[in-house]
Order: sequence, then C-alpha cells, then structure tokens
Amino acid sequence: MSDESICLVRGSINIDEFYDLPTIVRPGQTISARNFSKRLGGKGANQARAAASAGARVLLDAAVGQGVEGESVKKELCAAVKGVEDIGVTFENDEKAEGSILGERIRVWSDGSTGKAIIQRAEDGENSIIILAGANASLPSKPYTPLIPQNSTHLLLANEIPLDETLAYLRAAASQTNVTTIYNPSPMPTGPQLAAFPWNCVGWLIVNEGELGDIAKAVFGESLEEGSEGDVKDAVEYLTKKKEEDGKKTLEAATVVAKALHTALPRLSSKSNDNDNKTNPDAAVVNIICTLGASGVLYVRSSSTSQAGTDAKCLPAAKLLRPIRDTTGAGDCFMGFLAAGLMRLREENGDDAEDRFEGVLKRCLTACSMCVENEGAQDSYPTMAQVEARLA
Ligand code: ADP
Ligand code: NA
Repeated sequence: MSDESICLVRGSINIDEFYDLPTIVRPGQTISARNFSKRLGGKGANQARAAASAGARVLLDAAVGQGVEGESVKKELCAAVKGVEDIGVTFENDEKAEGSILGERIRVWSDGSTGKAIIQRAEDGENSIIILAGANASLPSKPYTPLIPQNSTHLLLANEIPLDETLAYLRAAASQTNVTTIYNPSPMPTGPQLAAFPWNCVGWLIVNEGELGDIAKAVFGESLEEGSEGDVKDAVEYLTKKKEEDGKKTLEAATVVAKALHTALPRLSSKSNDNDNKTNPDAAVVNIICTLGASGVLYVRSSSTSQAGTDAKCLPAAKLLRPIRDTTGAGDCFMGFLAAGLMRLREENGDDAEDRFEGVLKRCLTACSMCVENEGAQDSYPTMAQVEARLA
C-alpha cells in the first residue's frame, strides 16, 4: 500500500484484565482468583490493530493514562504488528503485517488511569465486567480543532469516546472531500442523540442487526408509529425485540430496514443539520453494512459507477476451520479490514465495481472467521497475508 495514505482511527484504548474465579464475587465476599491475564483492547485500539494487520498505515488518535502502564501500552500498540498464531493452519508464525500503527497522536492523560475493563470469569461461564473509561473520557487540551491529517483518506470511529469528539471528527472529515468516514455506533448513543446525528457526514455505517434496529427506531420515530410503512415498522420491531435465533427472519428484517435507512439517513440529516457547514455534498450517501454473526453480512451501498445501486446484497460468513473459541473484537476486526480494503480500492484508481468490493468483504469475513476461531481480540487478528493464504 502507498506510503502516503493514512487511516486515522479516533477511538479508545483499554487494558482488559481477566480474573478466573470459581464464582463471581458477591457483595462483602473475598475470593482468590485461579488465574489472571491481561490483554490490550478497546474498540479504537482493536480497529487500529486490525487495519494495520490488513496492511494499512494507521494513525491512532487516542489517550492512555499516566505512568509506566500508559507508556507500556503505547509501546506495545506501536510495536510491529504480527499475525495470529493460528494453531489450525500452518503459518509462518513470526509473520509481520505490512501495515503499522503510528503513535504520535496517542496522548498521555496526566489525571488518571488508562481505560480498563475488569472481567470476572466464573467456572460456569458467567462473567461480570467493570468498565473504567479513564483516559478515553479525556479531551485533548483546549482550544483545539480535531485535525484530520491531509494524507488521511479514511477515518474510523466507534463510541467509546465522548460523543462530542465523535461528532467533531465526523464533521471535520466531511469538510475534507477526500476523507471517507466509517462509523460503528457501539455502544449505542441514546435515541435523541441518534435522531439528531449528522448522518450526512457518515460514509459507511457498520452495525450488527440490533444496532440497525435501534437506529431505525430512533430516526424514523413517529413516522413508524403512524404505520405509513408497515413492513419497516414490523422489521424494526423484530430487530429490536427479538428473542429467538432465526437467521432467515433476521436477514429479512435487516434487509428491509437497511434499505429504508440507506435512502432516509442522508435526507433526514440534511433537514436536521441545515446550519452545519456541510461542504461535501458527495458524502450524502450512507452506505450500510450489517454484520450478522454466523450469517455473514448484509450490505446496501452506492458504488462510484452506479448511484442506483441501492439493492441489498448478502455474503455468507467464511467457513470456520475450527470451532468458535472467542468472538471478542470480531466486529472491530471487520472494521479494520474494511478500512484497509477500501483504501486499497481507492489507491487502485477508485474502481469499486461489485466484484472488487465483494473481494474486500470476503477478506473481511475470512479475517473475522480466523478471529473467532482463536482466543482473544487483537491476538486473534490475522495479517492480510494469512487471510490470502486461507483464501488460496
Ligand atoms: P459484533 O461483534 O459487532 O456483534 P458480529 O458478531 O456480527 O459483530 O461479528 C462480526 C463478524 O465476525 C461476522 O460478520 C462474521 O464474519 C464473524 N463471526 C461472528 N460470529 C460468528 C460465528 N458464530 N460464526 C462465524 N462467523 C462469525
Ligand atoms: Na478471537
């Protein structure tokens, strides 16, 4: 990939601490852990790692806490990116990715800790989790405007940082015609936040089926209640309330909702954001990808050659070679591989014809299948070379 282009990731960094226990601790109780392990996580760090594994040059814009811990996290993240040591297939285990994570935008927050997740894992499989936002909730010192470097072609965002930061970066990117934004609204903003969201600044919306339903519920609001679009209403209802696992029904409902949102989102936001200094009318298309776990992905996009390409299409999940081990960070793996894949398409004359775009998605899905077969989040991300080897 070209030395020039950068994928900017504005997001979170967490240290995930796992305590293996006989049972979850009850109030007033003290128990001994059988084992302790620690891993790097956080959606920003995961996405950065995945994009770098897929070959992109990544600038991670994030914060760590003070002291030795923060420094070592920063060092570890920026070390050469290695692929998964997949025990199911033979790989060169010391295989390094072509991409890298640049650390000059990783701030050290002097007022407290690096973001943390403290995870109790009981023998019966139950878990309980404490999240400390720590440095992820901090803001760069003011006054500042979020700077999107000139050579960034893609911007990845999720929601483990203050929402105002996300909005500021989306708007800044939209005012630069060459930046494609890729947004995963997880954890979900509130209904009112979603309804007022500047959707016209989002190039790609990446969600799972529940998130898709939540967004539709928030943005369609009363117009759904009026029942003007009965099938959309039923589909939203199904996605937001579903209890049973019915892959076919989920796919049908997600298709209806994704198509409705693809057309509605840019229009909704041009109404609610009339006062925005929106200078990029080309971005007024929101491409949607809905990841469906074992059922693969559903997508609705307008390609550069056909604005009419609003048909929903599906790709099945890549075949697993081994049983599922750990799905943590699979969605982030998808995000990173997608960003790197879109960067490559753009560098190759911007030709995003259907077969080429499908090629990108197939690599995302294969990377995800390798991720879920292996323990951990970032530790289970393959390099692009490993993905190509499996596809060969
Ligand atoms: P999220 O973690 O955001 O809910 P998903 O669970 O949809 O995301 O996972 C993202 C991708 O990981 C899926 O599109 C799929 O490729 C892969 N994946 C996740 N769960 C499974 C599974 N049970 N079997 C096969 N692939 C899976
Ligand atoms: Na994994």
